[in-house]
Amino acid sequence: VKTRQVQLVSRPEGRADKSHFTIAEVQLPSIRDGEVLVKNLYMSVDPYMRRCMDADGKDLAPWPIAGPLTGPSIGQVLQSRHRGFEPGDIVESMSGWQEHFISPGTAFVPYISADNALAKRRSGSGLEPKDYLGLLGIAAQTAYFGLTCAAKPALGSTLVVSSGAGTVGSIACQIGKIRGLRVVTSAGSDDKVSWLIRDLGVDHAFNYKRTPIEEGLKAGCPDGIDLVLENASPQHLSACLPLMNDHACALIAGFISMYSTGGRTGPIANFEYVLDKYLTIKAFPFTDYLGAYGQFVDEMTAWRTSEKLVLKETMHSGLEHAAEAFCGLFDGASLGKNLVRLCI
Ligand SMILES: NC(=O)c1ccc[n+]([C@@H]2O[C@H](COP(=O)([O-])OP(=O)(O)OC[C@H]3O[C@@H](n4cnc5c(N)ncnc54)[C@H](OP(=O)(O)O)[C@@H]3O)[C@@H](O)[C@H]2O)c1
Repeated sequence: VKTRQVQLVSRPEGRADKSHFTIAEVQLPSIRDGEVLVKNLYMSVDPYMRRCMDADGKDLAPWPIAGPLTGPSIGQVLQSRHRGFEPGDIVESMSGWQEHFISPGTAFVPYISADNALAKRRSGSGLEPKDYLGLLGIAAQTAYFGLTCAAKPALGSTLVVSSGAGTVGSIACQIGKIRGLRVVTSAGSDDKVSWLIRDLGVDHAFNYKRTPIEEGLKAGCPDGIDLVLENASPQHLSACLPLMNDHACALIAGFISMYSTGGRTGPIANFEYVLDKYLTIKAFPFTDYLGAYGQFVDEMTAWRTSEKLVLKETMHSGLEHAAEAFCGLFDGASLGKNLVRLCI
């Protein structure tokens, strides 16, 4: 099989753009005993990937120059010489950014945790292959495990979510409402803010590009903040700290604003409130809570079926648009989850 892969041609200083990527044609060998050939149906683009473009990705393995990239994808087995897989099986992997790939199939896991790992997925009964990258993908897991396992907010407490119109953010806002919390959030355009209020039912939302974050939070949190789910920036976290109630917690899902700066944040302003108010600041990888993956799948699918939760998707068509889709995440170009349709 001849396939196409997106590859890195150079490492960006600052923001990534299309010129850092190219598409290469690659001849795959015939599969050997124990291997499977997979065609990718969809791939995900995620903010963390910007850190994989650096030579030092910190906790993440750097992507190679002129080699295959990694990232979540969902595909279909075309050929199998592995007892665990048959042609037609739907499999989730970390082998995105390419149309076809060969997997040793040795790392056969119930959830995605390692390169070369394949996880068999069911489709039908309301679940489509792309749901494993969206409704059930890593960003959804981050929102769900954050508000279910990393913290357990009490009914009626105030939750602040940054990047509310992104994937983690929009799911966290909705889970917050399902759990009976007061939800306050922000996003980078008036349209996104209207969507958050009108369609997702948050209690207060503001455009952080037009309203100073401190002001927006003060207006939305008259009783202080009990829990923060931070997706955006050290500046947003700093603005939350003076408003947090004693013993409150800030969960750091990520700081998308610093991924293009080599990971440097500078000092966090207002940090003295951590001491004064006995705050907990907790970063958490979704992989810490994979023991609850089954519960996550059941609850998310039930909420979607009963229309308590929706995930807005932006679908890009074809591998040639993958780099553009990825770079757009840092401009706030779209709402919700960005996916790329591949071999369909
Ligand atoms: N800990 C984990 O295991 C884990 C897993 C998945 C994701 N995450 C983290 O969770 C966060 C959100 O991820 P996601 O998948 O939900 O992202 P996403 O759906 O791609 O949403 C990204 C949104 O972030 C906003 N944004 C971009 N640059 C920004 C900046 N400089 N300052 C403030 N906002 C900015 C944009 O919306 P606006 O128009 O509103 O600016 C953009 O649409 C990221 O930090 C990501 O790394 C963590």
